[in-house]
Amino acid sequence: MKKIVLLATLVGTLGFANSGEALIKEKCATCHTLEIPQMEMMPDFVAPPMDAVMFHMKDVISGNDNLKAFIDDYVFDPDVSKSVCESNKVQKFGVMPSQKGKVTKEELATISEYMIATYPREQFVRHLKEMLKNDEMTALKSSPFLINAEYLPHFTKLLIEHWDKAKLGLTDDQKKKLLVVRKETISGVKKIKKQTSFLEFEISEAMIDRDSVDSVEKQLDELAHLKKEATKIHLKCISDTTSILNDDQVAYLLPMWQ
Ligand code: HEC
Repeated sequence: MKKIVLLATLVGTLGFANSGEALIKEKCATCHTLEIPQMEMMPDFVAPPMDAVMFHMKDVISGNDNLKAFIDDYVFDPDVSKSVCESNKVQKFGVMPSQKGKVTKEELATISEYMIATYPREQFVRHLKEMLKNDEMTALKSSPFLINAEYLPHFTKLLIEHWDKAKLGLTDDQKKKLLVVRKETISGVKKIKKQTSFLEFEISEAMIDRDSVDSVEKQLDELAHLKKEATKIHLKCISDTTSILNDDQVAYLLPMWQ
């Protein structure tokens, strides 16, 4: 009788120890949290949460076989140019250390299958979409640009996300030139944004004080002029950037321009 109980426990434990859920907890969760990430948890992260990893991978890589092949390769042989995570995330956390010797090939195969079936969870996707929408609204509300259309991209942000991607293939010379454009753009827009925020505040104040529209004519002219200047900086950034990149690189970054 005792023997049977022991055997049953043993089989039970073995079954659990070999499940994708148990393996991912043991081998990956020390760095990749398996919880739905919350804002206040972020400073403690040493790697992106598993939901975020799979969200990006499923966005970039299509088909479960390709996803599995990517994970099975990356975990043993990670490299910044292979990464599908945003380049700024890799810069922030550093490239993942190879897990060779820490997890067997068979264990990894079980883990990757489990990852693809489980992540990202619906709750995470909903949460993320809400956050992105809020960010977009905030950016729109404080935008100093006359045109806020999706097809006029913010190259400074877009490029940082893809900076080290092998598929984009930026040369050192291109990177050097792009950094100059980035610096000019950011410093120019920053300066104008401070002034437009102040003018918007002054104009609002006048309305709250029941002043006449005519009384803010000068501020409105100045605001319109500043927004035109900011828009020109934005357009110049697009023009300078596209002249540094080749056609394939532009097509990679801006599929909607095709
Ligand atoms: C010592 C910490 C650590 C452990 C343990 C770890 N990772 Fe990572 N992982 C990272 C970091 C840091 C990144 C982000 C940088 C990068 O992408 O290389 C990352 C990124 C990834 C990515 C995204 C790759 C990309 O950039 O596109 C995958 C997939 C991944 N990990 C899978 C796993 C799996 C599966 C395990 C468990 C077998 C695991 N990791 C264990 C630190 C870790």
